[in-house]
Amino acid sequence: MTEKEILLTSILHCSRSALYSEDWTLNNEQEKRLFEALSLRSQGMPLQYILGEVEFFGLVFKVDKRVLIPRPETELLVEAVIRRMKDDRRPPQNVGGRPPELCGGRRTTDDRRRILDIGTGSGCIAVSVAKSLPRVRIDALDVSPEALALAKENAVKNCVDERINFIQSDLFFVFNENNANNRLGRYDIIISNPPYVCSHDIAQLQPEVRFEPRVALDGGSDGLDFYRRLIAESARFLRKGGLLFLEIGFGQRKSIEKIIASQSALRLSEVINDYSAIERVMVLGYG
Ligand SMILES: C[S@@+](CC[C@H](N)C(=O)[O-])C[C@H]1O[C@@H](n2cnc3c(N)ncnc32)[C@H](O)[C@@H]1O
Repeated sequence: MTEKEILLTSILHCSRSALYSEDWTLNNEQEKRLFEALSLRSQGMPLQYILGEVEFFGLVFKVDKRVLIPRPETELLVEAVIRRMKDDRRPPQNVGGRPPELCGGRRTTDDRRRILDIGTGSGCIAVSVAKSLPRVRIDALDVSPEALALAKENAVKNCVDERINFIQSDLFFVFNENNANNRLGRYDIIISNPPYVCSHDIAQLQPEVRFEPRVALDGGSDGLDFYRRLIAESARFLRKGGLLFLEIGFGQRKSIEKIIASQSALRLSEVINDYSAIERVMVLGYG
């Protein structure tokens, strides 16, 4: 569909074929909405912000200027996590020191797999993983309280809010040793699609991207600040055999491999290309 068709079908709540096969007259309210939408679009506002929603991994997410618009390539990150979790035959970690037989040999709420999504934004990764893996519990973390508020709405909208815990923190700061937040144990998987654009490149990005929050884009002077911090700190929060899944930007693999090489605790397990053959996801193992 063209952008105009998308806007009109959204305003008229009709299908593309109905748009052409039926006679439509816009009422005043609809005319006003269309005029406003076209005006915002001409200023460069992304269509997804104007519509207020986007489809990701077959689910609908609310989006606005508080969060990055989920990108199709991030679906690869979600797919990779789901694939690994479905293949994982290890027993769940014994949280709280109780042997599994004391729980009647069955998995209980406490021994569900634990996932941490760092920089959750709209919640697209956490919600999609929770939807596909009905036993996992997810902590979804972001430094932005505004993004977290929207991520919570998306968890409710997609009926997975009971299994996602939202946390405001600068990366792992909230889990510092004296903090009770991480008393349930280490994570099976940590996922992150961190900000990875070089600071000085942001001004050159397409006008649409400049509508998105800078905090969601800015990866520091070489775009790698968050990879350094995530790779250095993740091992402390992963169980043995745990995995760190990272979305990476174009051409960043080699630099990230150098960061990994200086970190003996993590090793590269897999690199996944996107549909344009760009290296897009790195999977790192611990232990
Ligand atoms: C590239 S966006 C990813 C959003 C979402 N996960 C996605 O894939 O569409 C990065 C996210 O990291 C968050 N962020 C930036 N700095 C952070 C920090 N120091 N600690 C935690 N989250 C941070 C931003 O607010 C933003 O939501």
